[in-house]
Amino acid sequence: MKEILLELERRREVARLGGGQARIDAQHARGKLTARERIDIFLDEGSFEEFDMFVEHRSTDFGMEKSKIAGDGVVTGWGTVNGRTVFIFAKDFTVFGGSLSEAHAEKITKVQDMALKNRAPIIGIYDAGGARIQEGVAALGGYAEVFQRNVLASGVIPQISVIMGPCAGGDVYSPAMTDFIFMVRDTSYMFVTGPDVVKTVTNETVTSEQLGGASVHTTKSSIADAAYDNDVDTLLQVRRLIDFLPQSNTADLPEIECYQSVTEPDTSLDTLIPANANKPYDIKELILKVADEGDFFEIQESFAKNIVCGFGRIEGATVGFVANQPMVLAGVLDSDASRKAARFVRFCDCFNIPIVTFVDVPGFLPGTAQEYGGLIKHGAKLLFAYAEATVPKLTVITRKAFGGAYDVMASKHLRGDLNYAWPTAQIAVMGAKGAVEIIFRKDIADPEKIAAHTKMYEDRFLSPFVAAERGYIDEVIMPRSTRRRLAQGLRMLRNKDLTNPWKKHDNIPL
Ligand code: HXC
Repeated sequence: MKEILLELERRREVARLGGGQARIDAQHARGKLTARERIDIFLDEGSFEEFDMFVEHRSTDFGMEKSKIAGDGVVTGWGTVNGRTVFIFAKDFTVFGGSLSEAHAEKITKVQDMALKNRAPIIGIYDAGGARIQEGVAALGGYAEVFQRNVLASGVIPQISVIMGPCAGGDVYSPAMTDFIFMVRDTSYMFVTGPDVVKTVTNETVTSEQLGGASVHTTKSSIADAAYDNDVDTLLQVRRLIDFLPQSNTADLPEIECYQSVTEPDTSLDTLIPANANKPYDIKELILKVADEGDFFEIQESFAKNIVCGFGRIEGATVGFVANQPMVLAGVLDSDASRKAARFVRFCDCFNIPIVTFVDVPGFLPGTAQEYGGLIKHGAKLLFAYAEATVPKLTVITRKAFGGAYDVMASKHLRGDLNYAWPTAQIAVMGAKGAVEIIFRKDIADPEKIAAHTKMYEDRFLSPFVAAERGYIDEVIMPRSTRRRLAQGLRMLRNKDLTNPWKKHDNIPL
């Protein structure tokens, strides 16, 4: 009996070494952790339960039958993050470069199936060279099996991808269909085809970093939602995100103890809006003052900075914040901002996370670059996302809410549940200058008349009261009481029950 137990221990030890000490050392020399080290850091201590440690590939081509390594390049299983169950797979670069074989794919699809059946988030850690070249179509089939499960799980359980090394070919499309992608600066990159293929096909010379590094994907392509300096920091940030998310689309929102009063007025907010309507201010200050203990997990912080999206909590329960940022392009809505916020709003709606929207938006960005780039369709994405969302929607207009952007930003007309405005709000078709130049064009050469018309327009329209008179604004509130108002509103909306008409699925303007 003792011999049998020892044999198990021996086999486990070999499996845990993956591709061997030399390759583990090479991994460390590159500033990267191994798959198992990453799992250990990510999960609660001692909580990892591994599956399929002894799975090997079945390939016999190119002499592969002579090189088999237990685990076959991916470590899979489940564990907990602050006590809540998650499923996990981590590609092991020390084994065939983490490449995906048929057996490797079966290990991943097993945890995908278990995560869906047991309604818990799934996290994929990537550090891999794509399809196992020696396996050919069996590897391609394996990828498609993974992709199909990503799609079926989308909107049912949170799916998160963490890119911690090379990620090429088939390995980029599974992350692309998950809810969030995180990268590690300098050691991770993602592309469909690498620099060599790029050189052959387009004659461009680029490095891996220039083609698909973290800075490219967080600032230009918007593929990645955030990047951090090293493996440990990245894994700890993903744990932080998990704490905000429900286990599935039918689970309750996670709630944690809230230590900050919701009734205490914050008088500093009364002076947040500058006296000059054209002066910017930082909308993140408002978010940080409204969110419990100023804890805010921002999504896509480095992309389309004219809109801010992220998770916080109010009275201990998660909310999604969406806010125009007057510090960048005056908070205007352009194609990038619309796409970014639309995806975030849809995530919140999938997982029953209430949406708090702060509005200070001068309109949609004019110009040929935007129009040729499809602003109509991209702007419509955000409009569509807000309009279809059935979660509690609470909106606070702090300053400008002009034109179509007023409609889009969770207005009353898009089934906003509570629509508040600060006394500084200006809700109108456009700002005074543009409006007066159009409706009083005949007086354009007379500065005195234009000044009088402008004053009249400002007095009549650049306030919250015209909208409030119509009930489009439920209440004009004191800035200092914003946190209290939102907390009360969220409490009132806890049992909100609203469903859209039955359909197979909608046809959002993609
Ligand atoms: C089999 C692979 C492999 C692969 C790497 N290895 N990629 N084995 N299939 N796809 C092995 C190497 O042979 C090597 O084995 C070890 O992993 C480490 O690889 P290195 O090249 O030494 O490492 P590095 O220099 O860091 O380069 C990493 C890399 C590079 C950038 C990932 O290996 C690479 O470009 N690999 C191929 C990428 C690719 O084109 N994949 C196919 C994509 S097509 P030893 O034994 O020497 O340690 C695809 C189709 C799916 O994925 C499409 C679905 C939509």
